[in-house]
Amino acid sequence: RPRLLSGMQPTSGSLHLGNYLGALTQWVSLQETHDALYCVVDLHALTVSPDPAALRERSRATAAQYLAAGVDPSRSALFLQSHVPAHVELAWVLSCITGYGEAGRMTQFKDKSAKQGAEGTTVGLFTYPVLMAADILLYDAAEVPVGEDQRQHLELTRNLAQRFNARFGPTFVVPEAYIPKETAKVFDLQDPTAKMSKTSSSPKGIVDVMDESSVTAKKIRSAVTDTDGVVRFDRAEKPGVSNLLAIHSALSGTAIADLESAFAGRGYGDLKKEVAEVVTGVLGPVRERTRELLADPDSLDEILAEGARRANAIAGETLAKVYDKIGLVRPR
Ligand code: TYM
Repeated sequence: RPRLLSGMQPTSGSLHLGNYLGALTQWVSLQETHDALYCVVDLHALTVSPDPAALRERSRATAAQYLAAGVDPSRSALFLQSHVPAHVELAWVLSCITGYGEAGRMTQFKDKSAKQGAEGTTVGLFTYPVLMAADILLYDAAEVPVGEDQRQHLELTRNLAQRFNARFGPTFVVPEAYIPKETAKVFDLQDPTAKMSKTSSSPKGIVDVMDESSVTAKKIRSAVTDTDGVVRFDRAEKPGVSNLLAIHSALSGTAIADLESAFAGRGYGDLKKEVAEVVTGVLGPVRERTRELLADPDSLDEILAEGARRANAIAGETLAKVYDKIGLVRPR
């Protein structure tokens, strides 16, 4: 079975619909065919300088949402990044083969550092994609299921793997991004040309997995659309309506063309009502299950400990191989 790894940052107490469709649903189905490792990248989340108590809570909440959505810990390893020290150790080695300019070209770094200003921009934010490369390369992951916004980071990971292999001999598997087209990008409900993101300007544009159903329905009801009144999929001309159709289709499994026919002659009110039903129908049970899992933190921590044991076994071996290849003297 091909190996696969992915992760999400615990930057909020709730994942949003972009994380859910762009990544989590793929993770759940890929368990059937792949040997998967799913990581809560708590060390990555330090780049937003979270409050310590909040970080602790969000890390467990993120893990619980993976499980609630269907990640099966008897098949896939589920772990916290900070439980596997090799991530940071390999990141240092990789940072020594990463160009300064190369890291500076990452568009997420450019966007985030522009927002935070020179004072607010940390070295951690700059080297973030190198840590992400280490996450992936430690496990010989052949595929990495992510949303479109991570494509450039995956490209850097591939470049670093190839560079290391060329210099020190075959070591790393060069990973492929796995980005299904339909769910690659879920857009903000209030600003449907921008991706749905934890750092969006308005919470009204973001559907959170942990929102109450009434809140979700209200957000969808007030989604920005257009004035021509026809339910038709057209990303360029009708981004709001297209986003709603794409969300419906991804969750209900109904083809977009079939949705267009079903809504022929009907208004946006009907569309929004049905999208809200589909979304709350799927997310409601995930939210309930997450709450149950969080009510029993000992069991959750045990699952994370088991995942870390499996991850450490693989990662430790890769790191030892790397240290040896680059000429570090190994301890007896
Ligand atoms: P993060 O935590 O921002 O997002 C988690 C996953 O959700 C996807 N995503 C989206 N997909 C579709 N539409 C959206 N609006 C949307 N917003 C987010 C992201 O593409 C991602 O797949 N750097 C990563 C975390 C990471 C990682 C890794 C991922 C660290 N190490 C190793 C894979 C492998 C990030 O910040 O994702």
